[in-house]
Amino acid sequence: MKLGVIGAMALEVEALRAAMENSSSFTLAGMEFQEGTLRGCPAVVVQSGVGKVNAALCAQILCTHFQVSAIINTGVAGSLDPALDIGDILISTDAMYHDFNVSPLGYAPGQVPGMDTLAFPTDSFLAAKAQDACHALSVTWKEGRVASGDQFICEKAVKERIISLTGASCTEMEGAAIAHAAYRNHIPCLILRAISDKADDSAEMDYPTFERKAAQVSAGLVEYMAEHF
Ligand code: ADE
Repeated sequence: MKLGVIGAMALEVEALRAAMENSSSFTLAGMEFQEGTLRGCPAVVVQSGVGKVNAALCAQILCTHFQVSAIINTGVAGSLDPALDIGDILISTDAMYHDFNVSPLGYAPGQVPGMDTLAFPTDSFLAAKAQDACHALSVTWKEGRVASGDQFICEKAVKERIISLTGASCTEMEGAAIAHAAYRNHIPCLILRAISDKADDSAEMDYPTFERKAAQVSAGLVEYMAEHF
């Protein structure tokens, strides 16, 4: 197992960077890839930057250059499900775009033409390992779909549209792009997100208050998973 771990923002990877041992750094596409071991597991930790293009580029480099055997995306998300409160964890089943729209040409909203799936499936073995980590660290979790797009969601009406379009449990800005890249490379992946806000009119206030704590919860789970592969 050689694990690739992607976080979009510095605070989503800083604890993992600090926990890396025997590591060397390589900069590719302006991203710093830190390769070494994480709790004994061969790993590459990287900050991709925000949004779908950064995330997809980063995942592709992990696949082609570092030849990782699995990718975990760690970070924070806005909740789309009343059962997911701030600090809780969403373990992905799959991920899709909420801002991809070729419906005038007959495609379902979210569907990427040429791809044989609307939502990119994520890996059930990795999900089971994430569940074990949540149990061990007493973190409340739920499994569900991730909806990704190049937007910070902070309006109730937009949130409702994303829920009815995707049926997702959380929204963020990278997961589906990473799952898409992993799918095309036949590499198992998992999106692990701690809830920082409710993606509604309270999100602009909640996000800065809870993002650090939420990011730490998710990163702590990744460390546990790395130790128990
Ligand atoms: N990441 C965390 N909260 C988010 C939100 N409300 N919208 C998009 N990405 C997020």
